[in-house]
Amino acid sequence: MPDELPWEALHRRIPPLPAHDDPDYWRKIREQFPMPPDEAYCNTGTIGASPLRVLHVVVGHTVRSMVEVAHVDWSGGGMSLLSGYSPDTELRTKIGELINAHHSLVALTQNATMGMNLLANGLDLPAGSEVLITDIEHPGGRCGWELLAERRGTTLCKAEIPIPVEDPGRIVEAFEKAIRPETRVMSFPHISSEQGMILPVKELCSLARENGILSVIDGAQATGHIPIDVREIGCDAYYSSPHKWLMAPAGNGFLYVKETLIDEVWTTLASTQWNNHEDNGYRLGQRGTPPCSRDSRRPWTSTSRSARRESTGGSRSWGTAYAGA
Ligand SMILES: Cc1ncc(COP(=O)(O)O)c(C=O)c1O
Repeated sequence: MPDELPWEALHRRIPPLPAHDDPDYWRKIREQFPMPPDEAYCNTGTIGASPLRVLHVVVGHTVRSMVEVAHVDWSGGGMSLLSGYSPDTELRTKIGELINAHHSLVALTQNATMGMNLLANGLDLPAGSEVLITDIEHPGGRCGWELLAERRGTTLCKAEIPIPVEDPGRIVEAFEKAIRPETRVMSFPHISSEQGMILPVKELCSLARENGILSVIDGAQATGHIPIDVREIGCDAYYSSPHKWLMAPAGNGFLYVKETLIDEVWTTLASTQWNNHEDNGYRLGQRGTPPCSRDSRRPWTSTSRSARRESTGGSRSWGTAYAGA
């Protein structure tokens, strides 16, 4: 096998990163991107343009995996080329550090849309439950709830957000007005897609908590854009697309679910870890078969959800499972 692949040789041509006090800082940052120098790109809110050093790692890893494919030890970890086939604890830990959460509460997805769908499907809301969203959702934050309404008989309602909004309190009032006894979920963006408006997420999560309602945040436009601390915000779930403002490689998303709720969220994509309640983030994000060691061929054997429910005294109540947690 060659010592250095052509793509690896290219690494030497990636310009070094400038020091923070370099007077020519921004020109040197611009050089990190492969787009022609006379072109500008303004659609990072859809997909970020990854810099050369990120592309180098992605392409280099892909090429090397195939060069070395005949040498892979499938019983001892396999290859890390396929996302969703292994726990990817290192990556989930980095995402956890970014949002202040333990990696076991973070599932890897392909984008924000997939994160919201995994959550909506996994909550198992009874028919008649109401999901309250806003009238300014991006389809990636709305359609999973629409599907649930059509398929499971939940009700979808929208809080009307006044545009332009004079103060954040008006947004909280819009939700206060829309909450009903049947409301089980409040779902809203951290930064709205069309207006680029930062919503008062902490206040909305407290309102949800006071009313025994789950709070779900669409953070697609927030990761890499503004600081995120899910514990400080107090949300029950948060999903995002690092392939936007973090300029991660395309096809990168995550879903965070709070410790007191994640155990109760069913996985939609089931493989060998579907019942692994010791690493719930991997359970929800697994979308392939892990390396076939003798142990991983057997189904996961942790106490099943129903057995754990019985031992803790019966079924879950939406009103109490997360209230005040
Ligand atoms: C607020 C918001 N939510 C969700 C999405 C969907 O993101 P993705 O296509 O990465 O799933 C977007 C995309 O622009 C968005 O702006």
